[in-house]
Amino acid sequence: MTVTPVRTHPLQRLSADEIDAARSLFDRHGLLAPTTRFALLGLEEPEKHVVLGYSDGDPVDRRVRAVLLDAATGAARAVVASLTRQAIDSDVEIDPVTEGQPAILDEEMETVDQIVKADPAWREAMARRGITDLDLVRACPLSAGNFGLDVEKGRRVLHVLSFQQHREEDHPWAHPIDGVVAYVDVIERSVIELIDHEVMPVPEEEGNFDDPAYTGPPRTTLKPIEITQPEGPSFSVDDDVVTWENWRFRVGFDPREGLVLHQVSILDGDTVRPVIYRASMAEMVVPYGDPSPVRFWQSYFDAGEYLLGQQVNSLVNGCDCLGEIHYFDAVLADADGRPREVPNAICMHEEDFGVLWKHTDIFTGSKETRRQRRLVISFFVTVGVYDYGFYWYLYLDGTIELEVKATGVVFTSAYREGSQYASEVAPGLGAPYHQHLYCARLDMMVDGPINNVDELEVQRVPVGPDNPHGNAFTRRVTRLRTESEAARTADPTAGRTWRISNPDRTNRLGQQVAYELRPEGRPLLLADPTSATARRAGFATKSLWVTPYDHDQRHPAGDLVNQHPGNGGLPTYTAGDRSVENGDIVVWHTFGAVHYPRPEDWPVMPVEYCGFTLRPVGFFDRNPTLDVPVSSRGHCAHE
Ligand code: CO
Repeated sequence: MTVTPVRTHPLQRLSADEIDAARSLFDRHGLLAPTTRFALLGLEEPEKHVVLGYSDGDPVDRRVRAVLLDAATGAARAVVASLTRQAIDSDVEIDPVTEGQPAILDEEMETVDQIVKADPAWREAMARRGITDLDLVRACPLSAGNFGLDVEKGRRVLHVLSFQQHREEDHPWAHPIDGVVAYVDVIERSVIELIDHEVMPVPEEEGNFDDPAYTGPPRTTLKPIEITQPEGPSFSVDDDVVTWENWRFRVGFDPREGLVLHQVSILDGDTVRPVIYRASMAEMVVPYGDPSPVRFWQSYFDAGEYLLGQQVNSLVNGCDCLGEIHYFDAVLADADGRPREVPNAICMHEEDFGVLWKHTDIFTGSKETRRQRRLVISFFVTVGVYDYGFYWYLYLDGTIELEVKATGVVFTSAYREGSQYASEVAPGLGAPYHQHLYCARLDMMVDGPINNVDELEVQRVPVGPDNPHGNAFTRRVTRLRTESEAARTADPTAGRTWRISNPDRTNRLGQQVAYELRPEGRPLLLADPTSATARRAGFATKSLWVTPYDHDQRHPAGDLVNQHPGNGGLPTYTAGDRSVENGDIVVWHTFGAVHYPRPEDWPVMPVEYCGFTLRPVGFFDRNPTLDVPVSSRGHCAHE
């Protein structure tokens, strides 16, 4: 079989045909056994210079990368291949001890369920808790982390906590079977260790937020809100390239990172001015703070271990998104290496965002108001109990934001009276304290590939001859010259921000054009610096990292995260302390929230928000929204 290269742009998303073609190519090269599972199959993006040098019609080498797992032997390999050249470019065996394991497969939920339920000791542990109907026990495949346990070394391990249902449609999370955990080898298909620490009562109260018998009748007081755009939306979509107002970018979708924004640029007159070459949610970790012997290991790396893109939801208009929506479908590979289409995976729409600017002049009598608008490009994933929405916002004034929405169900435990490490969210039901820490990878390109990063802080000025009245304050600007200098922590009390500027481009005032990263500055990783979590989630110990662009440095916690021993990703990337001055740089930003669950978070959690802002600072010569017209249709009519 031959492949017809129908795709043109080098960043074009992988098609279903290309996924089929990749599978055939692997098969012909003897890489597939009947027991081979595709833990990952995605586009291998070309290097940046190839993309930037591309012109319409140029030949494109379409490549894929894959991680293959033999479910019979546990052997794993990383493969890069060219569909265009029909060649395997590299095929490397993975050492699970030093490099970690392929990501967790969806089908391993079923695998661990079968394994624990066939294990006499686990069944005995359930019986000790009075649980005999095992059909109503739900076993969860949870990432094991890496604690250097001999019993786990070199094995593909999942940790299994279990939950009980009262009947099939009863949400199990309300009934954690606490005090017992099974460590499971999914290749050998056995329980390799069962920790039956203590028998705790299984919380009884149900939490069925989808059952009117539990929630009560719906309120009848809310009148409809309809979002209508009678003339249609203001954006246009050409394949995956979006133009909205002065913005232009390309939509990508990666099985691991989910939505990727490529070549985010601003059309300034006839000039296309790049801002970000590539923006993605590159990693996240949810470390739990409960030291219990059955749950000290809980730290979920939802991108590297569970693959955010693979867990993407299919969205529903009117529920998930409101208004004039444009959907992009996602095409992913399943564990057989066959294409799996997820309709409505990415949602894009415009939102009114209140006042953009406004002034009532006391001398001239002028009264002017303009309304702000943003373009929203988002996707939602479900990873276990949690649901995460990742929302990119592009504003009329050049501002870019990423907002993460965490919702779903909190991870539960049996509540121990007086616990320092969990909240009681329902009678006898605990929710261990935890963090949600995200790392965005921002391959910056502010008006060109060569950028610098400065740290900006407020600076007090002591009273003295130049400041006799003590009112003075100024700003401290510190150039971050190397990777070690650029590993920084946010400090809201210092108003600390990071400015990414272009040394070769100035505005009409002679200032270097720039964008500023404004962090929220909430706590970073709280686990002890000597802990396994800190070793494996090094990226989460700093708010800011800056690295020189390197095509192979894509993942904050390393290439393979599942069971990785640690120091992968950013700590390793930055170990050489390279220069990041006057270079092609990548900015990595860790942000997130500490979650002390509230009773109001049960049985389903109202969205908790966090994120960051990128704001133009001297990128434009003046307010770039002076040409935004007064809102029409009588909504904002002046007398
Ligand atoms: Co939470």
